[in-house]
Amino acid sequence: MDSNQTNAAPAFSTAGVIWLKLAVVYLLIGITMGIAMGAKEDFTLKDVHAHVNLIGWVTLALAGLIYTVFPQAGQHRLAKIHFWLLNLALPVMMIALSFLMLGNRQVIPVLAVSEFVAAGGIIAFAINIFTNLKRA
Ligand code: HEM
Repeated sequence: MDSNQTNAAPAFSTAGVIWLKLAVVYLLIGITMGIAMGAKEDFTLKDVHAHVNLIGWVTLALAGLIYTVFPQAGQHRLAKIHFWLLNLALPVMMIALSFLMLGNRQVIPVLAVSEFVAAGGIIAFAINIFTNLKRA
């Protein structure tokens, strides 16, 4: 076996791994919803499908890639705040949005709170990017 390969340090940080795994879970849910909507010809949950894919898959995967390429941001405390706020809020937000799309307006306060918590995570991300991404 090539000793250079076995002793080589990883080329990238592992800070993004958990983000990328969660992103793929959302992609699986998102495409399952898409296929189910098409099969049933019922597009009531179209907005949930769109947000599961765009926040769950695209946004989480981008954060994972950014934190992998820029470990100084990925290993920062702000990345943990970003992770927990967004990932605790997002499932609540998607479930509440589903209930709203199905006509249940009582969930609006839950939806609103989860949106603000998710936005708090995005603000932590923005501060992290602006403070910890530096030119070499
Ligand atoms: C197998 C994969 C997928 C299937 C079968 C699928 C299916 C669908 C269907 C049936 C709709 C409703 C269309 C309508 O109302 O006429 C839809 C809407 C949408 N999908 Fe997907 N989708 C898939 C993947 C994705 C992915 C990966 C994304 C984003 C990264 C995405 C983003 C959206 C958005 C934004 C809408 C809303 C469009 C609108 O409101 O007009 N979808 N999709």
